Amino acid sequence: MANLTFGIIKPDAVRAGHTGSIIQRILDTGFKIRGLKLIHMTRQQGEGFYAVHRERPFFAGLVEFMSSGPCVVMALEKESAVKSWRDLMGATDPAKADEGTLRKEFGGSVGENAVHGSDSDENAAIEVSYFFSRLELV
Ligand code: RTP
Ligand code: MG
Repeated sequence: MANLTFGIIKPDAVRAGHTGSIIQRILDTGFKIRGLKLIHMTRQQGEGFYAVHRERPFFAGLVEFMSSGPCVVMALEKESAVKSWRDLMGATDPAKADEGTLRKEFGGSVGENAVHGSDSDENAAIEVSYFFSRLELV
């Protein structure tokens, strides 16, 4: 699974109409899309997905935001996929993100920062299987 990562186009970016532009950037960077779907996460699904952050002060707001509208979940393949996707996303806080990154271009704030990416191969495998069944991955 070292070549696979999991990404989300978060509700702020979908709402703002940036889905197509972000997918184009993903393809231009050389990723192969192995799974893709539009979902509207329930609060419970958001809590499960971000369970590692449940003690953090921003947890309730994060779950509220992630279940506030449709988002696009993706299984992305590329060499060193986890790092490559995080490099394309940029820093968590869009104000600190490098020029040319998705969060710099499309992120509004540290909470509403346009995209998510797995932080390790292990979590990528867990997150892909949280949202996709085997039949939904090509
Ligand atoms: P992500 O998991 O979404 O890819 O983001 P990340 O690794 O860059 O950042 P992480 O520390 O895992 O935080 C997860 C998400 O929680 C929200 N957050 N809000 N208000 C705050 O101070 C704060 N800090 C984090 C962000 O949406 C962040 O992406
Ligand atoms: Mg994270």
